[in-house]
Amino acid sequence: MAATRGKSSSKKPLWILVLISLVCISLMVVYLHPPQKYSSCYLLWNVCDHLDQWLPPAPVRVLTDEELISGAVSRDILSMQITYTKSSKIAFMFLTSGSLPFEKLWEKFFEGHGGQFSIYVHSSREKPVHVSPLFIGRDIRSEKVHWGQISMVDAEKRLLANALQDSDNHHFVLLSDSCIPLQSFVYVYRYLMETNISYVDCFDDPGALGMGRYSEDMLPEIKNKDWRKGSQWFSVKRQHALLLLSDRLYYTKLKLFCRPAMEGNRNCYADEHYLPTFLNMADPSGIANWSITNVDWSEGKWHPRSYRAEDITLELIEKIKSIDESVHVTSEDEKVVLQKPCLWNGTKRPCYLFARKFYPEALENLMHIFDNYTSV
Ligand SMILES: *[C@@H]1O[C@H](CO)[C@@H](O)[C@H](O)[C@H]1NC(C)=O
Ligand SMILES: *[C@@H]1O[C@H](CO)[C@@H](O)[C@H](O)[C@H]1NC(C)=O
Ligand SMILES: *[C@@H]1O[C@H](CO)[C@@H](O)[C@H](O)[C@H]1NC(C)=O
Ligand SMILES: *[C@@H]1O[C@H](CO)[C@@H](O)[C@H](O)[C@H]1NC(C)=O
Repeated sequence: MAATRGKSSSKKPLWILVLISLVCISLMVVYLHPPQKYSSCYLLWNVCDHLDQWLPPAPVRVLTDEELISGAVSRDILSMQITYTKSSKIAFMFLTSGSLPFEKLWEKFFEGHGGQFSIYVHSSREKPVHVSPLFIGRDIRSEKVHWGQISMVDAEKRLLANALQDSDNHHFVLLSDSCIPLQSFVYVYRYLMETNISYVDCFDDPGALGMGRYSEDMLPEIKNKDWRKGSQWFSVKRQHALLLLSDRLYYTKLKLFCRPAMEGNRNCYADEHYLPTFLNMADPSGIANWSITNVDWSEGKWHPRSYRAEDITLELIEKIKSIDESVHVTSEDEKVVLQKPCLWNGTKRPCYLFARKFYPEALENLMHIFDNYTSV
């Protein structure tokens, strides 16, 4: 027995050495000839084909109770068939700090479409003074919102919870007090109702302002490959609105581990990550990956471009309306630009139905040209 064991162990090192050098040589060859060069695979087909078999299999993780529950609920909600009818409405949910400077413009937009929309206003600082009868009585119970904190997501969920009470609401659009409509109501209605897509901005930013905000404390449920970023101004179909309200698991992860001024001088803003990350995990093909609300970050400042009264021209609005490609810029040193056509039911179409940010003083000029820019 002992003799046999000694014999085999004396043979083993050489065998292992040969194997290790073979692997090293193969890895060098693969490294020098990146995978797109399949010719190197031909020579080493054995290595390329079986490399993954040599590695230990990734252990299958047993799901936690919360993940199991979340998965079951998500699947059922997503398989719900909701077809729109004549009485289907779009919920316009305004997240504001006080009064809405563009109520009169929105009134023009809604004119003649009673029964096809409903309005909800969440005002986090002071009670709004409404100048349009359409907005009177539409305030919901609100709470303070702190910029970049989870209270922002809470306010969004509060708006959704109010709007979901009306079973005719089939699509839910989040807007701010500095948003304006870019298209006619009929255009917006058909754009949102005739597809079953949510317009949630979502992209993978490997840079400091994207992946740099991910925390391993979110494991095991949220892996770093799942982490996404996007603008908070969403528009979701009813299934996704329900999904967002049913979720405690992923919401809690972000509430705990995505906060401004965390340890290590890191900042994470839940409103820029919760929806994109969660919906990309739950239903990746159900979100368009761009927001239907345009904003101009091209000046490269901390705040996006804001339009004053003198900036308002038909040309400006037509320029924003004509954009049919969504652009994302990563926060890496190289600032990689990711550009994609806005595909609506497979056809390239304008990306944006709304735009921000407009100063209140822009109202009069916008009222003046509204009919011109929404007539086509
Ligand atoms: C979406 O595309 C499909 C396939 O091209 C087409 O049959 C359908 O009518 C389109 N839907 C709308 C609302 O245009
Ligand atoms: C959105 O992006 C995800 C990948 O992050 C992709 O799987 C999905 O198909 C995209 N959605 C659409 C509508 O193209
Ligand atoms: C939209 O709904 C149709 C029919 O219910 C389904 O076949 C299609 O996969 C859905 N598309 C998306 C992106 O959810
Ligand atoms: C808007 O339309 C009206 C009537 O069609 C026209 O008289 C006016 O010149 C247009 N305004 C602009 C800025 O094009």
